Amino acid sequence: MLAQSATDFKRRKILITNALPYANGELHIGHMVGFLQADIWARFQRLRGHQVSFVGGDDQHGTPIMLGAEKQGISAQELIDQTEQSHLEALAAFHISLDNYTSTHAPENQELCNEIYQRLHDDGQIEVRTIMQAYDEEKGMFLPDRYVKGTCPKCKSADQYGDNCEVCGTTYDTTDLIEPYSVLSGKPPIEKASDHYFFTVSAFAEMLEQWRSSDALQPEIANKLAEWFEGGLRDWDISRDAPYWGFEIPNAPGKYFYVWLDAPIGYMASHKVLCKQSGDDWNEYWQAGSDTELYHFIGKDIVRFHTLFWPAMLHAAGFRIPTGVSVHGFLTVDGAKMSKSRGTFINAATYLEHLNPEYLRYYFAAKLGAGVVDMDLNLDDFIARVNSDIVGKMVNIASRCAGFISKRFDGQLANSLATLELQTSMQNASEKIAQQYENREFSQAMRSIMALADQANQYIDEKQPWVLIRDENSVAEVQEVCTVGLNAFRMLCIYLKPVLPELIKNAEAFLNVEPLSWVDLQQPLLDHKINRFKPLMTRIEPDAVNNMIEDSKESLQAEIDPNSPLGQDPISAEINYDEFAKVDLRVAEIVAAEHVEGADKLLQLTLDLGGEHRNVFAGIKSAYDPADLVGRKTVMVANLAPRKMRFGLSEGMVLAAGPGGDELFVLTPDDGAQAGMRVK
Ligand code: 2FM
Ligand code: ZN
Repeated sequence: MLAQSATDFKRRKILITNALPYANGELHIGHMVGFLQADIWARFQRLRGHQVSFVGGDDQHGTPIMLGAEKQGISAQELIDQTEQSHLEALAAFHISLDNYTSTHAPENQELCNEIYQRLHDDGQIEVRTIMQAYDEEKGMFLPDRYVKGTCPKCKSADQYGDNCEVCGTTYDTTDLIEPYSVLSGKPPIEKASDHYFFTVSAFAEMLEQWRSSDALQPEIANKLAEWFEGGLRDWDISRDAPYWGFEIPNAPGKYFYVWLDAPIGYMASHKVLCKQSGDDWNEYWQAGSDTELYHFIGKDIVRFHTLFWPAMLHAAGFRIPTGVSVHGFLTVDGAKMSKSRGTFINAATYLEHLNPEYLRYYFAAKLGAGVVDMDLNLDDFIARVNSDIVGKMVNIASRCAGFISKRFDGQLANSLATLELQTSMQNASEKIAQQYENREFSQAMRSIMALADQANQYIDEKQPWVLIRDENSVAEVQEVCTVGLNAFRMLCIYLKPVLPELIKNAEAFLNVEPLSWVDLQQPLLDHKINRFKPLMTRIEPDAVNNMIEDSKESLQAEIDPNSPLGQDPISAEINYDEFAKVDLRVAEIVAAEHVEGADKLLQLTLDLGGEHRNVFAGIKSAYDPADLVGRKTVMVANLAPRKMRFGLSEGMVLAAGPGGDELFVLTPDDGAQAGMRVK
């Protein structure tokens, strides 16, 4: 069957969101996975004739933003304004077709947060409970889990976060940490009581089970929810104590909404702003039982917020719940986690300095499916795939046919096709491709489309218009053959329009047609004058990719602290002389160095302090061969309290500079320094 007929077409009202990016950092290509997935789907739905509202905004509240601003010496407001501007620029450059961008600090959001909170409160779904929490007396604030570090209670690894151990994977409460310290002041936190506001998620178990077993979720997410349900639903702490950068809770002085309460409400607020501009009816979308559709695109790290707390909160406040949540995996580059030292942590802006955004749009589309799987940007494959599919196959069809039409037929397409076969075969694929887009199986859709491009190229290969044109009797046939080719190209443009909007806009100008939509598949373009062909996309040059990687190594330094020559590690909080004097730095000679079985990062060093020997585990394995260290003098912290590690007791610390990985440099004193000498 062909695209929808006018009679059975039902225009859907679809509201689409992608996770709101935090306002304390630049967008990088990992963010673009969700934005591109949501954007391609939004563009596809528009192309099919549906009414789409795609809204976004920055996620502007929370402790990291408050402290980030403090570190930069600017106000939180200044920080979020700057970041919003840079996010908007990157999103526009990647052709993300958001209909509105209103961030979470907006008054519209505050109003909605208050209203929803009030509804939950009036319905008895907010409970105040006193909890004990880590508090930094010096800084005068309660510490979120990530701001407390200490030794893991299970495996005894040092410097683990307050919620889980990165070495042995145990999760625990901050209070379980051994020798905990505040990341902000370095001081041990105290335990302090505070009243917190909880939303009674546990009261919505039945509703959440119904939601879990509806078709709103991918199977792997529904299974995850089942696991959480088995563990029992816990009520959700929605408040944070001052100082906090966020909205103050009504009638609760000094208490603020936790950022994760106001962030998803930001979707509603952004949509409200859009409706004010467009005249659309916001209530129609958000009222309970609405027959409009609501889809959230998110990453797999924020599933709990979107599939438990958010539907429960919407339902409890008398609103509709989402039609679907689409969860994607993380992005890896060349098979590994994006790495700052390898230059694969690529900011959107750095990418854009070197490469056409549509290369990435196509590559992501060619790899994205509907499952919750991580996606790899393999840089060699990226170059090969884009060059072969888009430049070599798709654009090539137009460039092979356009010259003949322009030069020999004054730009005029024939008034009939040389054959209907290709046209029909391409039309017949339309419902399959539409279904693949609809199901967010973009990689399948790209394969189907490229198979059609292969058919079109094959047709031109067989007809050989460049041979036919030499025979005066076949000239008319050349016009018909090239008209078939250009009609095939036009249909490919329709199919690829959600993915390559800019390229297709230029193709529309070349074909001299109005913006194409899905229904245009039904009629061929005949007896029509086209414009002169200009190259629609150039090949990816490997050098451009290499330069982008090189620049990512540099741009990272600039991003972390633009004013500091110190790059990645800005100067820490000031200390006074007495505090400094407590650190006993000594020259030490490395008398033995060995690998540690089972440790990825550590070397075991024996250090001579002028007679006394110390055993130290140092995280320098990635940069040094143990044999190269033996006999070398270095500087160590000699009075650091011994730390029990998984592999034994560490009795001090050697000093090294650099970002990490293979860029680590153990400090060495000038010749003449003796083991045991104090460093002053
Ligand atoms: O994880 C994040 O990046 C969050 N800023 C996403 C928020 S999504 C929504 F709830 F706003
Ligand atoms: Zn551990």
